[in-house]
Amino acid sequence: MFNADDLKKEFLADIESAASEIQLSDVWKKYLSKTGSVQKLMTGIKEVAKEEKKAYGQFVNEVKTWVQEKYDEKKARIEAFELEQKYRREAIDVTVPVKRRPVGNLHPLTAVKHEIINVFAGMGFEVFEGPEIEDDDHNFTRLNVLKDHPSRDMQDTFWLTEDLLLRTHTSPGQIRVMDSKKPPIKVLVPGKVFRSDSDATHSPMFSQMEGLVVDRHITLCDLQGMLDEFVKNLFSDAAKTRLRPSYFPFTEPSVEVDVSCFKCGGAGCPLCKGTGWIEVLGGGVVNKKVLANCGIDPEQYSGLAFGIGIERIAMLKYGINHMGKLFENDVEFLKQFKA
Ligand code: DAH
Repeated sequence: MFNADDLKKEFLADIESAASEIQLSDVWKKYLSKTGSVQKLMTGIKEVAKEEKKAYGQFVNEVKTWVQEKYDEKKARIEAFELEQKYRREAIDVTVPVKRRPVGNLHPLTAVKHEIINVFAGMGFEVFEGPEIEDDDHNFTRLNVLKDHPSRDMQDTFWLTEDLLLRTHTSPGQIRVMDSKKPPIKVLVPGKVFRSDSDATHSPMFSQMEGLVVDRHITLCDLQGMLDEFVKNLFSDAAKTRLRPSYFPFTEPSVEVDVSCFKCGGAGCPLCKGTGWIEVLGGGVVNKKVLANCGIDPEQYSGLAFGIGIERIAMLKYGINHMGKLFENDVEFLKQFKA
């Protein structure tokens, strides 16, 4: 009665040749959209005689369902195909050998510095950093290093002007902390220091770690307690310290601190030169004059201080015999310190 064979034929040809989602959407526009030919068939109902309208409507619906079905089938096929293509494009061959990129490691000095900070941070120390260019006042005078002290000599200190110099130790950090903070004080001052000195165990630039504690009733015992903890953590559980009398202008009394030889356990070996002990740092009870120089009442407060040479600790810990090795940046040498 009604005939849509031409439309169907054309549609079949179109849907057959559609090979992508874009082409498919053109087919949809041509047949199934509001302005498409199937919809046009529907509007043709106006011209159909009244008694035939129902049958015509049914007929158009059947055509529409048929077109829609064919369209959906093709759409599903194209989508599956395109997905397959995408998977193919994005496929990763997990059997291809990977290019291994070398992973770096911390420089032994950085590693030792972190280790020292970690030990003291566990005892409540904070980290403070001061400038590498210092003045006479902070580097010497207020640390009670008087005008004629030999360490001021041209042979040791790199002077920049009459008053400015490259700091010769991290001890001026003590003055800067006490100037800016009231007791209780518990700080570490890490940093580079400079002295005109160069041989197997000395370098014109090296690193130190200063420690300072100021509070009521601080004694030399507190210093030894903290340093025992320090050597146990850095060297070995069995390590002990020994304090020997010494002299520094900024501490009174002053001590030189030895650690029991972690190689031979104290029996005597080449590392400890047969003595069973290795010198690791200097320290003492903060000189009352230094506290007073920073406006801290020495009758109420006392302090302890120590200065650790970071290169020295690294050399002992890793058995490095020449300090220069720590500054050459020879990758083959540095690679050995992978944690
Ligand atoms: N500043 C000293 C040096 O460079 C090391 C030192 C000794 C630091 C005793 C201190 C200390 O704080 O109490 O040789």
